Amino acid sequence: MTRSTITRGDSKHLKEPVVPSKTGEVQGFRHAQRTTLALDANASLASIDNLNQLLADSMTLRDLYKKHHWQVTGPMFYMLHLLFDKHFEEQSRIIDTIAEHIQTLGGVAIAMAADVAEGTGIPRPPKGREDLAAQLARLLHAHEIILLEARAMAREAAASGDEGTNDVIVSDVIRTNELQVWILAQHVRDD
Ligand SMILES: [Fe+2]
Repeated sequence: MTRSTITRGDSKHLKEPVVPSKTGEVQGFRHAQRTTLALDANASLASIDNLNQLLADSMTLRDLYKKHHWQVTGPMFYMLHLLFDKHFEEQSRIIDTIAEHIQTLGGVAIAMAADVAEGTGIPRPPKGREDLAAQLARLLHAHEIILLEARAMAREAAASGDEGTNDVIVSDVIRTNELQVWILAQHVRDD
């Protein structure tokens, strides 16, 4: 076994494996543990897959809100700066609820940015700063992608008898996203 040792002035140790192989991955990403939740195993697996998609998209939307919280400019700056951070916090709470529900179902929740980037259906924004109209359009588009898939997933969960997943999706994801869209849409000029 290779051990990581910190040696001042020498960064070679940073390239060594950090985790000893024996104690590495103990549950594969798309493997579900058995539970005693009285749920059909296939229904659980379908819910885990759907929830991981919703998680990747919600994490992307959360990060989009932080990007705009930092990068927004103009006469509405302070109000939008605060609003975007409020929505960021609310998305963060949804994300934790989704991820913990995936674990409850015996699955493995995605967590890291690279996995989120690979899994999300929300288009990647540029690294640079966009104007307010583009920021709002991008946020509304992301919400719409999430709402569309969330409603289909909620119906699927209810049809397979997984009411817990249905409730997380309806009560947490759909309700919060709809409310955020209503508030955001007030800032889009259509007059
Ligand atoms: Fe901040």
